[in-house]
Amino acid sequence: MTQAPDLAPPPTLEVRGGRKNFGAVHALRGVDLVARAGEVTALVGDNGAGKSTMIKCVAGIYAFDAGEVLFEGEQTHISAPADANALGIEVVYQDLALCDNLDIVHNMFLGRELKNGFRLDESAMETRAAEVLASLSVRTVRSIRQHVASLSGGQRQTVAIARAVLWNSKLVILDEPTAALGVAQTEQVLQLVRRLADAGLAVVLVSHNMNDVFEVADSINVLYLGQTAAQVRTKDTSRMEVIELITSGSAGMPPGTVAPRMSPDAPDRAATPVISDASTTTNGSTSA
Ligand SMILES: Nc1ncnc2c1ncn2[C@@H]1O[C@H](COP(=O)(O)OP(=O)(O)OP(=O)(O)O)[C@@H](O)[C@H]1O
Ligand SMILES: [Mg+2]
Repeated sequence: MTQAPDLAPPPTLEVRGGRKNFGAVHALRGVDLVARAGEVTALVGDNGAGKSTMIKCVAGIYAFDAGEVLFEGEQTHISAPADANALGIEVVYQDLALCDNLDIVHNMFLGRELKNGFRLDESAMETRAAEVLASLSVRTVRSIRQHVASLSGGQRQTVAIARAVLWNSKLVILDEPTAALGVAQTEQVLQLVRRLADAGLAVVLVSHNMNDVFEVADSINVLYLGQTAAQVRTKDTSRMEVIELITSGSAGMPPGTVAPRMSPDAPDRAATPVISDASTTTNGSTSA
């Protein structure tokens, strides 16, 4: 081992033992996530596994009922979207929430418009929007004054992602960004996702698509029935193993992994598998 774990920066985001109930529904029963700067962390799991709920807890739409959230190594409480935004967390939701009747520039600055006195500073917004799109090597958009209604699905996704990176974000979470896209557009969006990470952001990618996950993710976090089954390095795993984790919550774990005790009706969170790779550890302690 040449790596000095003590010198490694803390993850941008770490969730330990996160829980969330909706009345009698235990949506999250112990979730752990590590998202590092410069990496794409995929969040996968079957329908109803808890992916969207987890993201909404990180984004401040819900608050975790129990568990810890660390941002850049500091313990933090996120209980409103403003808390998440202040930390530099941006979420691109699947429905995108773009305004069709506005152009790209206005969509990127929606709700956070730049002003010059009482008037909108159109030229500053246009310059900044163009800079961000250029920095992301976005070349498929003809004019940034084009109405969003006239854009393709992939271009809309691009605008939503560019909007997320405009605000000094440190962590960008993308919920199924390629779900509605064709092959070529999917490729463009995946390249953009990769560039976000290469630019130093931590990226969390929610996806059902194993091709997407294995193409861009550095690390894969699997949720199973509201619990984290494992977080594994992409290079150390296989599609077969990830699919097994998604469908049964366990798999022939890589060496150094502690197998979880997973029972759908177990009231308490089992120890999450701990991956030996120092750059992707999940916390194995059981929270109350
Ligand atoms: N607001 C809510 N009230 C009650 N139950 C909820 C609520 N939101 C989610 N749930 C439940 O929590 C569980 C996790 O749902 P969630 O939407 O997080 O799953 P998911 O992994 O995002 O699934 P999908 O892949 O289908 O999007 C499900 O059993 C769901 O029915
Ligand atoms: Mg969901």
